[in-house]
Amino acid sequence: MINVVYDINVYRQVLKDIIKEDDVVVELGCHIGNSTRIISQLAPDGKIIALDKSTESNEKLDELKKEVTTPIEFIQCDVRLHETLEKVVTKVNDIGGCDVLSVDLGGGYHPDTTFKVFYIWSSTLKPRETIIRNRGLLDFIHSAKASEKISSNEGWLESCKDDGVPPNLKELKLWSPKV
Ligand SMILES: C[S@@+](CC[C@H](N)C(=O)[O-])C[C@H]1O[C@@H](n2cnc3c(N)ncnc32)[C@H](O)[C@@H]1O
Repeated sequence: MINVVYDINVYRQVLKDIIKEDDVVVELGCHIGNSTRIISQLAPDGKIIALDKSTESNEKLDELKKEVTTPIEFIQCDVRLHETLEKVVTKVNDIGGCDVLSVDLGGGYHPDTTFKVFYIWSSTLKPRETIIRNRGLLDFIHSAKASEKISSNEGWLESCKDDGVPPNLKELKLWSPKV
């Protein structure tokens, strides 16, 4: 299932609805770990790979790791870079795959970049559930009309199969000069 939300409280409620105790969760945009803490409580037998480019994250995530039992790996990086995705794919494959992908680059953040991050990461990791926090994408879903029906049940766009992952992800370099 692909879940799109905007309100941070709805985001955290949906995390509670979709995460299972032994899930491997990849969290894109963990900031200072406020939702990572919730995820760790929801997945006590799972694992979390949390990513953020912010310099504020490192210290806070280190503190959180000491407080909770769920293993958390924090990676300070830009999630728009191919090398970041490659690194995470290797880690995730070693621990049995990704169950839940969370994408929160900021609720009001560019929907185009957010969608691209979702599309490339979810097509690669093939999670059971994805949650995206973005106002523009939520607006698009409710504002668009569609006469044909194509839909997916997993946390990625199954109808596109592996088309979303070009062998050479040149376009994954940097998608927005604003960040
Ligand atoms: C609204 S905050 C996330 C809040 C967090 N999910 C929570 O629930 O508390 C958005 C985060 O996305 C991060 N971010 C935005 N663009 C990014 C990028 N290209 N790569 C990595 N992190 C990014 C920002 O640094 C920021 O910490």
